[in-house]
Amino acid sequence: MANDNKLANIIAHCKEYGFVFQSSEIYDGLSAVYDYGQNGAELKRNIRDYWWKSMTQMHDNIVGIDAAIFMHPTVWKASGHVDNFSDPMIDNKDSKKRYRVDHLIEAFVETIDKEKGDEILQQMEQLLAANDFDGLKAMIDANKMKCSISGTCNWTEVRQFNLMFSTEIGSVAEEANVIYLRPETAQGIFVNFLNVQKTGRMKIPFGIAQTGKAFRNEIVARGFIFRMREFEQMEMQFFVKPGTQKEWYDYWKETRMKWHLSLGISADKYRFHDHVKLAHYADMACDIEYDFPMGFKEVEGVHSRTDFDLKQHQQFSGKKLTYFDTDINQHYTPYVIETSIGLDRTVMMILSEAYEEEDLSTADKQDSRTVLRFPPMLAPIKLAVLPLTKKDGLPEIARDLIAQCKPHFKCFYEEKDTIGKRYRRQDALGTPFCVTIDHQTKEDNMVTIRYRDSMLQERVPMEQIKNMVLEKIKMF
Ligand code: GAP
Repeated sequence: MANDNKLANIIAHCKEYGFVFQSSEIYDGLSAVYDYGQNGAELKRNIRDYWWKSMTQMHDNIVGIDAAIFMHPTVWKASGHVDNFSDPMIDNKDSKKRYRVDHLIEAFVETIDKEKGDEILQQMEQLLAANDFDGLKAMIDANKMKCSISGTCNWTEVRQFNLMFSTEIGSVAEEANVIYLRPETAQGIFVNFLNVQKTGRMKIPFGIAQTGKAFRNEIVARGFIFRMREFEQMEMQFFVKPGTQKEWYDYWKETRMKWHLSLGISADKYRFHDHVKLAHYADMACDIEYDFPMGFKEVEGVHSRTDFDLKQHQQFSGKKLTYFDTDINQHYTPYVIETSIGLDRTVMMILSEAYEEEDLSTADKQDSRTVLRFPPMLAPIKLAVLPLTKKDGLPEIARDLIAQCKPHFKCFYEEKDTIGKRYRRQDALGTPFCVTIDHQTKEDNMVTIRYRDSMLQERVPMEQIKNMVLEKIKMF
């Protein structure tokens, strides 16, 4: 399947099977904002839980918090986001459409031969790193890059554009203060560094994890849930002794890559991309890129943020944010290694990896199925229980089995349609196990379990089903 088709087919599948809907669809949608449906919400929650447990439950020295989205406006001044959280943009004078310069250039590169494209991308990275806006404009002009709407090359100069959304707090207009919707969850961790360290009696090195919504006024928002204006991040800040940051940066690069591989995705679908242009707070940074249907793109960042954030908050708040290290009897401002992964991007990665249109044709018969091969621990529904008929006491047996299992994992009951159609529907939802209750079950308490991936079926005692599924969906 061509990759363009694959992305379009995944989007259509997500809508048809209740994973992802365009936000406010009945009003023709809101650009780059999406809602998760009944199955998407379960998938997303399972991914979030797996990340949360991997961080907090599996590391003795990492704890999780849940900070508010609204923060004091000075936070964003201190963090550098008011002055620096901007991207170089360019407007097409004919269509009035605004582009992020790197996106415009990347889209152009996709239309030309690879060697020349790589050369342009390399040059672009250098110009971005040097904040050389005239150089970027010259590159766009020299290569006659066109606006996708007007088809012209009539461009403005390249300018910076801040990505934060602002709103007002306070009930009376004159007293209202401008505040921002957080563009990253990390700052909620920095401002709580001492609260957590003291109340949790944490000793360096230690980490604080958090998941939650972030908001960015992305100019070119495209690629389905890859780039959204409202999205969710899963971030962890790991506080270390100054001078040890390189060792911990390497540790977290490796640990995060292992987490990705633990999703059952093969190593050749990932690569690291070391940053040439570093964010204002970083001294080392890389992306973990996954091979999405539209090519290798960032899914996670690992950043060595130095002591930038804590020192800035110390300066702007006037409050001390240092740590007393009893091993060396010294106060210092810790350095920070950050791991930052987009939850929605991870959902998209898991969907891209799981989606398959499988040809099941034989010599006598054309056949196919669409299957989502989710890792069982992440599947929205773990077990479907399907009575062969709607009568003869079979539904009651099916309901009994569900009653035993549902405190432990998400089950689904269905009695309509032929069993073949019901299996195909569960394949399309990514349900790893289906159990069929038939007339023989009444005699011997045996049921048929059918495995999504192999489509193999076997007879097993009904009382074993709960533990069989529990064993297969274990996270650790
Ligand atoms: N605290 C550091 C930080 O926010 P980032 O590289 O800007 O770093 C981290 O973002 C991750 O958040 C990205 O790797 C990506 O997965 C996700 N992300 C960023 N912008 C996004 C957007 N507009 N839509 C969806 N996910 C996004």
